[in-house]
Amino acid sequence: MTNTRSKADLFDAMGIGPVWELRKQVGAKVSTAISEPMPETVLEQATVDPGLANASISLENMSLESLREMVATCKKCGLCETRKQTVFGDGIPHAPLMVVGEGPGVDEDQTGLPFVGKSGQLLDRMLKAVGASRVNNTYIANVVKCHPPGNRNPEQAEIEQCSPYLVQQIKSNGPKVLLLVGRFAIQTLLNTKKPVGELRGVVHKVTLGGLSIPAVVTYHPAYLLRRPEEKSKAWDDLLLLKQLGFI
Ligand code: URA
Repeated sequence: MTNTRSKADLFDAMGIGPVWELRKQVGAKVSTAISEPMPETVLEQATVDPGLANASISLENMSLESLREMVATCKKCGLCETRKQTVFGDGIPHAPLMVVGEGPGVDEDQTGLPFVGKSGQLLDRMLKAVGASRVNNTYIANVVKCHPPGNRNPEQAEIEQCSPYLVQQIKSNGPKVLLLVGRFAIQTLLNTKKPVGELRGVVHKVTLGGLSIPAVVTYHPAYLLRRPEEKSKAWDDLLLLKQLGFI
């Protein structure tokens, strides 16, 4: 896929046409067949919080299905009191791309599937524009597996209880590349408090349990729905993801 065509697709999908040219080209060159990320684009190394990594040790080697069953009955935090059901993940297990979001909204709580509401529909269109989809080459999960009531942000304690599941979910999936959408996914997996705007534009490397996975970060689709003028930055991020050659 050429940049021009994919940009047109994405702009169309995101409702921000007409097509315009990038001010600067991200990355050095486009490769469609690399098995490792391009070294010149890997600028930031991140190791998940050691506490989090240790907490996931008890889940070591669990398959996705066993993990899903365990999560379905989880009562580690108060979100279990108000959820309709847990929302574990969707898409193709062991797919090359794994997308990590924040947590289920109302629609996801109803259906048990991540990213099915308005922001999920935007996410699907964004992924499609770079040749990715949950029925083809992508797996999607969230940092927290239960809907925070009133659509509030997940609390730190809830993230700490739930993210060992995410770590094992990533290890078990073994993605070639991660797309982290929104600050909760980004800050949890990159072990940082920096805002998204300071972290985007480079390829990060998430190190967990012997795996070292390139990660691209971008704004959460819910944020893009509120701030459509930021969609062009998300497009740059998707191009960077595409350039890594795993999708
Ligand atoms: N927002 C998320 O971060 N995840 C979902 O599953 C839905 C909305």
